[in-house]
Amino acid sequence: MAHSLTKATLGLTTPSNIDAPKIVFSAKEIDLVQWKGDILAVGVSEKDMAKDENSKFANSILKKLDAQLGGLLAESSSEEDFTGKAGQSTVLRLPGLGSKRIGLIGLGSSSSTAAYRSLGEAVAAAAKAVQASDVAVALASAEGLTADSKLSTASAIASGTVLGVYEDNRFKSESKKPLLKSVDILGLGAGPDLENKLKYASDVCSGVIFGKELVNAPANVLTPGVLAEEASKIASTYSDVFTATILDAEQCKELKMGSYLGVAAASSNPPHFIHLCYKPSTGPVKAKLGLVGKGLTFDSGGYNIKTGPGCSIELMKFDMGGSAAVLGAAKAIGQIKPLGVEVHFIVAACENMISGTGMRPGDIVTASNGKTIEVNNTDAEGRLTLADALVYTCNQGVDKIVDLATLTGACVVALGPSIAGFFTPSDDLAKEVIGASEISGEKFWRMPLEDSYWESMKSGVADMVNTGGRQGGAITAALFLKQFVDEKVQWMHIDMAGPVWNDKKRAATGFGVSTLVEWVLKNSS
Ligand code: BES
Ligand code: MN
Ligand code: ZN
Repeated sequence: MAHSLTKATLGLTTPSNIDAPKIVFSAKEIDLVQWKGDILAVGVSEKDMAKDENSKFANSILKKLDAQLGGLLAESSSEEDFTGKAGQSTVLRLPGLGSKRIGLIGLGSSSSTAAYRSLGEAVAAAAKAVQASDVAVALASAEGLTADSKLSTASAIASGTVLGVYEDNRFKSESKKPLLKSVDILGLGAGPDLENKLKYASDVCSGVIFGKELVNAPANVLTPGVLAEEASKIASTYSDVFTATILDAEQCKELKMGSYLGVAAASSNPPHFIHLCYKPSTGPVKAKLGLVGKGLTFDSGGYNIKTGPGCSIELMKFDMGGSAAVLGAAKAIGQIKPLGVEVHFIVAACENMISGTGMRPGDIVTASNGKTIEVNNTDAEGRLTLADALVYTCNQGVDKIVDLATLTGACVVALGPSIAGFFTPSDDLAKEVIGASEISGEKFWRMPLEDSYWESMKSGVADMVNTGGRQGGAITAALFLKQFVDEKVQWMHIDMAGPVWNDKKRAATGFGVSTLVEWVLKNSS
């Protein structure tokens, strides 16, 4: 890829190379009182905080810690008004334990994966606040858990901690290093099963962090060419299972990808069509999957330029969030190496800009399946790029496709900022992905593919237009994509325009990576 060697970044910004600090997780079965380190964090439910008639803890673990501390734990937790509600946490510096501090972290009344992930995040926050390097996490009530739920609890705590500690400081001239080095997970078992589970959690987290970094990177740094380089790096890092194909504009033209190339036409950063192929190094392949991500490194809207308050043009670097989910999943899969499944990771990366060579509103483009599209709005560009990406993916002979895209503001209006909408004609595929999301903890809601709404997508001069009216905008977008999917292929479209970004944290969420990895694993053997 000679073209990528000329990297004169606009604004002279280059990300600093901060290695994500490696946190070592160990699962141990030792007495909490004996544990030595900076913080001993205990996950406590509201029930665990109940006291007996002598105002002592009824819970055996809290009772033992309190006895060791001469009653100070009961006293100070009630002074701090700690009741075990979700979101509450208190770190106390009490003498008498092996640990310097004891942290009580509220679990509320739920024992979901999400609650344990939040526990991990609270542990990370506590560790940051006191610059701890060695912490331990335990639950006040772990005895009741089955072996399986101990595994998933430990892995949720570990993921929450890793992602909670992580800060993307690559574009800050100064940043403090996180100090957390080791996390001991106490009382949730020990041994190879748990170690494998923790390794899996850490592989997924590395994919989530990679996905976040791709989305956080601004469009002057993360051009389509740089995105393609990042994909190639995944393939070369895990070269035992990956091959990479990167097509330039000329090669896309040979494949007749007129819809995708129309979107790319205005930018001086050329398009790069990315195709990573994962094949296990041994054994037969039983399922072939396609993961397709929208990869607009910037979406200005084109001639239908994004203007006015609320158009969020300054956030449109996140318009490659679908591709970040897909490549984040690729990074995780490269480490996990599931058997029996082949996975194609596909991104038609480009930038939606304005120039004399750009696509005009009213132009007709021709996609690689021969269908013609009257572009009545250049800001509905994602679907134009996905059209050719979906045709290409079907040609790889896949059985199932999931595409992810920050496709419509309408989906954000419908479901708000935290829930992705999904569309699929296949109830089976819907079940699979919902199952995966229940493990990952990411939120999805099924939306209808209402065929009668296709009416608004009819053109007088071409096969279709690219935008219907304002009504049902997420649905008409999904119906548009359906035009480019082989009927024999099971297909799902995920609109993640809401959950790609966390407004409060002003940062990417890494949305999609963990659900995709779970889904691929469901299809493995
Ligand atoms: N990338 C946007 C969708 C988007 C908007 C994501 C706001 C996140 C926040 C997409 O390319 C777009 O511009 N969609 C248009 C479609 C319309 C022209 C039919 C939209 O949603 O306004
Ligand atoms: Mn747009
Ligand atoms: Zn867009």
